[in-house]
Amino acid sequence: MKEKGIDEDTEPCEEEISLSLSFSNRGTDTRAKKRLLSLAKGIKRDLVTSEVLRLGFAGLGMAAGRLIPEIAQLPYIKLTAAADLRAHALQRFQQEFKAEVYASVEEMCASPNVDAVYVATPHEFHARHTITALRQRKHVIVEKPMAISLEDAGAMNAAAEANGVKLMSGHTHSFDPPVKKMREIIKSGVLGKLLMISTAYYKDHIYRPFPDHDIEMSRGVVLNQGPHQVDIVRLLGGGLVKSVRAMAAIGDASRPGEGHYACYLEFEDAVPASLVYSGYAYFDSGELTWGIGEGGERKDPERHLKARKFFNSLGSEPDRTRRLEARLEEWRYGGSTPGAWARGDSGQRKQYQPFFGLTIVTCERGDIRQSPDGLFIYDDGGKTEVSVPSGVDAREAELKEFYEGIVNNRAIFHDGRWGQATLEVCLAILQSAAERREVILSHQVPVPN
Ligand SMILES: NC(=O)c1ccc[n+]([C@@H]2O[C@H](COP(=O)([O-])OP(=O)(O)OC[C@H]3O[C@@H](n4cnc5c(N)ncnc54)[C@H](O)[C@@H]3O)[C@@H](O)[C@H]2O)c1
Repeated sequence: MKEKGIDEDTEPCEEEISLSLSFSNRGTDTRAKKRLLSLAKGIKRDLVTSEVLRLGFAGLGMAAGRLIPEIAQLPYIKLTAAADLRAHALQRFQQEFKAEVYASVEEMCASPNVDAVYVATPHEFHARHTITALRQRKHVIVEKPMAISLEDAGAMNAAAEANGVKLMSGHTHSFDPPVKKMREIIKSGVLGKLLMISTAYYKDHIYRPFPDHDIEMSRGVVLNQGPHQVDIVRLLGGGLVKSVRAMAAIGDASRPGEGHYACYLEFEDAVPASLVYSGYAYFDSGELTWGIGEGGERKDPERHLKARKFFNSLGSEPDRTRRLEARLEEWRYGGSTPGAWARGDSGQRKQYQPFFGLTIVTCERGDIRQSPDGLFIYDDGGKTEVSVPSGVDAREAELKEFYEGIVNNRAIFHDGRWGQATLEVCLAILQSAAERREVILSHQVPVPN
């Protein structure tokens, strides 16, 4: 990895410098190190190093429109390359970051100026692009769903292991501080043994501005939203799911993907969990969580209604796809208002803790659920609120975990094996629904200590 621009001086302590040297023996520039230390306010000390991870971005679409401005703020990451099929997006990226641009992910992965690749191409390309990058010995973060089949996920892990590089299964809501705090309380045993987990989320996913092809490839909500919900539950329950019984179906024939599921799963230690997800935008479970949304924002109470109205305003096929594509071009990276669709209908992010629906954890001596700023614990003494420091944004937490794993050469929690295990649960929801039986799992991994 190379060093980022330098123009400022502050004095790092010796502890910080020694921690910074674990990644490379190539030597460091003291001024660069000092600059980074000064830039890295609010970042944990053991993360601060003199090295900058040079990131290539594969897929400059809607996700990129939201993500790239956030990544560009991080002092320990430099965007050095991008690959996409849309020439104007590449041109914008080149101008914005003075970076290399490529019309194919394969070519970008051959660049010596890329240490790691962020894969945000459409779902069906995740496996191919990830494996291409891993074989070029680039570390990879891959967006959810990690892949659309278990075989692909297995091949991705094999490629990471064979090439000695890190593979991270990207952002999910298991990075949210309240979810991590719930896990900590469960693990501490203060409320006795974990008895069961229940989680439910009702939102507007099916009418969000995703093309039909995207909905089809992700099997509607199951592979797109399932990874978030399953990751939360697996983290809380310790990771090792034994079996899944579920039903998922297409509830609106105008969209080619499953819009809802109900799932009962059991962990190896017999702890049960129920997961319910509805993406039809009639009821929004934000009503049960103080109107707070996934980004910790105060939700527009009519947001789900607006999503349905927007979808209906697109008319029917084939005009719908054409009209939607025109709007998507505005919102993708390189468009006139990148990321605007995600911002337009909500209040400011991070006002409160993020809520991915309503999750209740039941232990022998009490229940836990989220409060706007932390957790409520219900036990023999009544109801107590535990505040949870908001910490870093979940997206940033993901990039920190990735970066720290690389520079300190240590295991990443949300690695490819964790991602494969979550994908296995999501695919089992579909299999169980199709075969109307319980599915026994075999690729599960525990939450690391
Ligand atoms: N939309 C979001 O806010 C969001 C949020 C989180 C995760 N994601 C994930 O990110 C991924 C991308 O979703 P999106 O909504 O940004 O889709 P999108 O269609 O808006 O963007 C995909 C981009 O990839 C490019 N692309 C397609 N094929 C390519 C190829 N072979 N080589 C190089 N580039 C190629 C397209 O030109 C486009 O710019 C999905 O897997 C999705 O689950 C999206």
